[in-house]
Amino acid sequence: MQSQRRAAAPRHVGIIMDGNGRWATRRGLARAQGHEAGMHAVRRTAEAAANAGVQTLTLFAFSSANWKRPAGEVSNLMRLFRVYLRADLQRLKQSGVRLSIIGRRDRLGEDLTLQIDQAEAATAQGRALHLRVAIDYSARDCIARAAAAAQATPERMGALIARAAGPEGEGLEEVDLLIRTGGEKRLSDFLLWEAAYAELWFTDRMWPDFGAEDLNAALAEFSARNRTFGMVPDEPRPAAAVA
Ligand code: IPE
Ligand code: IPE
Ligand code: MG
Repeated sequence: MQSQRRAAAPRHVGIIMDGNGRWATRRGLARAQGHEAGMHAVRRTAEAAANAGVQTLTLFAFSSANWKRPAGEVSNLMRLFRVYLRADLQRLKQSGVRLSIIGRRDRLGEDLTLQIDQAEAATAQGRALHLRVAIDYSARDCIARAAAAAQATPERMGALIARAAGPEGEGLEEVDLLIRTGGEKRLSDFLLWEAAYAELWFTDRMWPDFGAEDLNAALAEFSARNRTFGMVPDEPRPAAAVA
């Protein structure tokens, strides 16, 4: 069982990177430009997370529901994923980042899946940060596939769901801190099981404007939270007991 502990430093941070489209629209730009700016925020945030000692960062980049967006936006996002993998692979490797993609692979194009395989293999030895990017990801889909695989206890389900998310999922059942940018306060099918006891942190900041300062503000607030996991909170000792 998980014991009560002070929320000192989150090992695993999840971020629902929302607001690219609105960021662009408000500037009179095309939504595609918002996604492009979002890619820079990914770079900044991954670097800030590694500097802050976060071990695992899971970023929600494309939900399974996002296939319902206009075909042009979807194909542009897929192109951006390929651009990111091509442009950043060396830098990720040099900075010791292990990259994993979670989510379904069977609906991604052949070029992208090949690039994902290569990037995962090339960065497999990275120890500075485990960067997991969720593409064609649906938490419900992971839970349903895990449940279909076996009759399971909640503990076993965690491992099965992590495995259903992808080969790098195992051992990463718990999210400590879950951040959502863009002002909405919902989970949108992200890490439903894993975030059962995550501390939640919402900001109105649009994802392309997010950076180290915001991450550090979230981490600071996290460290002040009292995580009770269903137990009673830490209380100061009563005066009589101290005397
Ligand atoms: C998040 O930003 C990125 C993806 C879902 C791919 P959005 O594209 O959802 O931006 P808004 O919410 O429309 O502003
Ligand atoms: C959630 O954002 C998915 C990602 C950030 C990739 P959406 O913009 O797709 O979610 P909704 O539509 O606000 O729920
Ligand atoms: Mg959105």
